[in-house]
Amino acid sequence: MDFYLSPSLLSADFGNLQHTVETLNGSEADWLHIDVMDGVFVPNITIGQPVVKAIKAHAQKPLDVHLMIVNPERYIAGFKEAGADILTVHEEACHHLNRTLCQIREAGMKAGVSLNPHTPVDMLENVIEYADLVLIMSVNPGFGGQKFIENSYRKIEQTARLRQKYNPDLIIEVDGGVNLENARRLIDCGANALVAGNALFSAPDLVSEIAKFKRL
Ligand code: DX5
Ligand code: ZN
Repeated sequence: MDFYLSPSLLSADFGNLQHTVETLNGSEADWLHIDVMDGVFVPNITIGQPVVKAIKAHAQKPLDVHLMIVNPERYIAGFKEAGADILTVHEEACHHLNRTLCQIREAGMKAGVSLNPHTPVDMLENVIEYADLVLIMSVNPGFGGQKFIENSYRKIEQTARLRQKYNPDLIIEVDGGVNLENARRLIDCGANALVAGNALFSAPDLVSEIAKFKRL
């Protein structure tokens, strides 16, 4: 089955981002996943709009930007300007999620909503028609290289049932601890986009590791 593969640049060498982006341009990767963290919503700080803009200057694939920040609605225009194609906010960080998703679409990006491991899938029923993508976190967000949380399979299946009922075009993306061992099962549960950081960037050859994923 076909799915989007979104390598997470969080595991890349930040000193050589241009080189990594160019390598990914020549790979079978579909999107570039960019993790924006503010040190408040999650216990880590990564990068912001200027770096996203610098990545965009070299990228030939859509930018899949994952905001792990409080008050993400303040930055919608800024990330559009920086070059985001998909902008995903966390349900737990939004007081007015419906409004925020609509604003992301109005700004001309695909709107994503992400759920932390503890957040029930049921809440999606009220916003699913306003989302282009649901990002199921399969680790607690903040860091790359963590262990996959097993109940994520069940959450993907629940989300896939809601997709069938309310929004057949919805993309279900999984993020955290994804590797060649669990990827097939994630897709079988209903995921059609996978983020992978450590599993790809720790391999001896990034391009051939991406090819292995795409041949699952
Ligand atoms: C974690 C980030 C992920 C992370 C995934 O908070 O949202 O995108 O980079 O990395 P791996 O695949 O190493 O778990
Ligand atoms: Zn992410």
